[in-house]
Amino acid sequence: MIFSTPSAPGGPEVLTLAQGPDPAVADRDLLIRVAAAGVNRADALQRQGHYPPPPGAPAHPGLEVSGTVVARGTAVSRWQVGDEVVALLAGGGYADLVAVHESLVLPVPEGVSLVDAGGLMEAACTVWSNFQAADARAGQTLLVHGGSGGVGSLAIQVGVAMGMRVFATAGGPARAARCEELGAQRGIDHRTEDFVEVVREAGGADVILDVIGAAYLERNLRALRTEGTLVVIGMQGGVKAELNLGAVLARRLRVIGTTLRSRPLEDKAAIVAGVGRDIWPLVPHAVRPLTHATYPLARAAEAHRALESGDVFGKVLLLP
Ligand SMILES: NC(=O)c1ccc[n+]([C@@H]2O[C@H](COP(=O)([O-])OP(=O)(O)OC[C@H]3O[C@@H](n4cnc5c(N)ncnc54)[C@H](OP(=O)(O)O)[C@@H]3O)[C@@H](O)[C@H]2O)c1
Repeated sequence: MIFSTPSAPGGPEVLTLAQGPDPAVADRDLLIRVAAAGVNRADALQRQGHYPPPPGAPAHPGLEVSGTVVARGTAVSRWQVGDEVVALLAGGGYADLVAVHESLVLPVPEGVSLVDAGGLMEAACTVWSNFQAADARAGQTLLVHGGSGGVGSLAIQVGVAMGMRVFATAGGPARAARCEELGAQRGIDHRTEDFVEVVREAGGADVILDVIGAAYLERNLRALRTEGTLVVIGMQGGVKAELNLGAVLARRLRVIGTTLRSRPLEDKAAIVAGVGRDIWPLVPHAVRPLTHATYPLARAAEAHRALESGDVFGKVLLLP
């Protein structure tokens, strides 16, 4: 197997190509020849030494892939060699081969190329599980922070397809406009506009999907309407902030935090099944993967530089 891994904690340049034994295939595992691997912010944190893989996961980064099944464990029932699939991983996607439990795999959605599919799973599972946590429903108002990101760009599309009224923040007028092209009623340039003002003028948000964390906590609470739910999934703006419990109690707000990577297999399998049931039928007519750029696996460092440049809209993929 060929894989890309940090030689030591550090900047993008520490990502180097390495060779090792093929992954072991357990009874319920599929061995997948990778066509594309999604690059996620968590991979950059792992590269820096801040986000170690959970126990049992491969040490090299990569939370999602697309590819072709090349071998099956002895107890696998649902998949055949030759199937084109996507998989949710706890790590190890930056490789030409991955082994993954069959319950974390879905078929490549019809109408999507094998490569583009490589960037779907992590965002789709994140959006589906957090919409469930927030009890997001048609007719509600959704505010998505980081509407230009891999998760945010998918969240906008799924929210719109579900019949929600969607607002989305992004950096700069062009990126805010692209959120509107994805179906957001209003893209908000977080550099020059106050999202609280914009969203409150429209009656407030029932659900906020937040990737910023501490820096937005107080403003997020103000942007929620009574009985609204804030789901925090990222901490790009820090981990510690003061929470006004008076506002939470008086307006009966909910503040939820979630992660996907470290959940038990059964939880993840249920999420993957939910994505297959609820999101896959929306792809590609209402929900499209947005591939910003692809890089050969050997140039993973450039892919990380691109992700960290702030110019990406959608997903960056690695091609082994
Ligand atoms: N908890 C979980 O289970 C889970 C799962 C997946 C991802 N995540 C986390 O969710 C976050 C987003 O993931 P991703 O894959 O979408 O990352 P991404 O593609 O890198 O997108 C991050 C986005 O954040 C936006 N952003 C930066 N500063 C902002 C600000 N002040 N206000 C609003 N938006 C801002 C950027 O948009 P602009 O450049 O346009 O400002 C960028 O598009 C990451 O922190 C990731 O670790 C968590």
